[in-house]
Amino acid sequence: MSLLFFVIKIYKLWYTFVMAIISDNNDFQKNSKTQGKNPIVKMETIEYDKTFENTIRPKTFEDYIGQTALKETLKISIEAAKLRERPLDHLLFYGPPGLGKTTLAGVIAEQMGADIKITSAPSLERPRDIIGILMSLKGGEILFIDEIHRLNKVAEEILYPAMEDFSLDMTTGKSQTVKTLRVPLPKFTLIGATTKAGELSGPLRDRFGIIHRLQFYTIEELTQVIKRTAGILDIKITEEGAVAIARRSRGTPRIANRLVKRVSDFALIKYDGVITDEVANNSLDVLNIDEFGLDTTDRAMLNLIIEKYDGGPVGIETIAAALSEDVRTLEDVCEPYLLQSGLLQRTPRGRKVSPEGYRHLGKKIDSYQQSLF
Ligand SMILES: Nc1ncnc2c1ncn2[C@@H]1O[C@H](COP(=O)(O)OP(=O)(O)O)[C@@H](O)[C@H]1O
Ligand SMILES: [Mg+2]
Repeated sequence: MSLLFFVIKIYKLWYTFVMAIISDNNDFQKNSKTQGKNPIVKMETIEYDKTFENTIRPKTFEDYIGQTALKETLKISIEAAKLRERPLDHLLFYGPPGLGKTTLAGVIAEQMGADIKITSAPSLERPRDIIGILMSLKGGEILFIDEIHRLNKVAEEILYPAMEDFSLDMTTGKSQTVKTLRVPLPKFTLIGATTKAGELSGPLRDRFGIIHRLQFYTIEELTQVIKRTAGILDIKITEEGAVAIARRSRGTPRIANRLVKRVSDFALIKYDGVITDEVANNSLDVLNIDEFGLDTTDRAMLNLIIEKYDGGPVGIETIAAALSEDVRTLEDVCEPYLLQSGLLQRTPRGRKVSPEGYRHLGKKIDSYQQSLF
């Protein structure tokens, strides 16, 4: 009997000990900036994760619609790298969110027949995060770093020799006995993505062999994206229905996909299940997406500049504060499309609504404003 007690006691002690370690680990992870997330997201998880975005994410160049010029140059670089049996040059993609930067990295890996590790700059806070990832790479593997403009100085400096010479410079010892150790790394390809190429440091930008800007998509290209997505999700849509959604997708495939899904809910509940021109337009009106694809925030931004600041110019911080919006959201998400479609103008003294912007919102430009244009 006493033996049984003894065994139970030992077991309890062991259990407490193990739990203490686990909870300690959890606390540590929660406290760390990465919030308990592994800095690497494996492509496999992305591939098999059945979330909406991932089921419809193109995996091959054939499925990747538009960006024709970029695709052609990439295909050539990939074929040349394969022929030389060398990894592809480091690549940098920039452009507004939702245009297909992450998707393209996956497509390139597929075409190279290479594995890909996906991470983002904010999860590479500590030197050991980036060192850990670099040391885990296999020859020919692709490392994708999203939001690369947010990489901190230390991580950047670790990355320089890794990108240039495929090596890590490690320092050991203290002050007088400090030694630098060069650790070789396998040859890999870094693909960086950013919404803000301007915020990338010069030395980092210079280490990319290929730098490309992703373009907004045409209505025809977005129509193709929409029809492809509808096909995968078993959504019935007419050609005109697809065009109607494409028109309001702000040149962005991610928005096009989101709208197809929202409109298909309307089609199912309020109509007979098929997305036609009429169903698409009526549903998007209800969703407050106008004919230009502008949503409530975009219109609020234009309205504010017109009504409170005589059409501008006004600084982005002022606009953000008045709208209770994040400056970054306005700069990265709203502005690029407003600028591209000519509704907004950027001047050294701030943002200004263009005559087209006034027209689009049904506002009159007064004579004082007119004299400024
Ligand atoms: N060229 C494309 N062809 C078809 N679908 C695309 C294309 N580019 C992006 N998409 C779709 O848009 C979504 C967002 O793309 P993503 O690569 O995540 O954008 P980014 O990384 O630039 O923010 C993807 O899930 C994908 O389904
Ligand atoms: Mg992305």
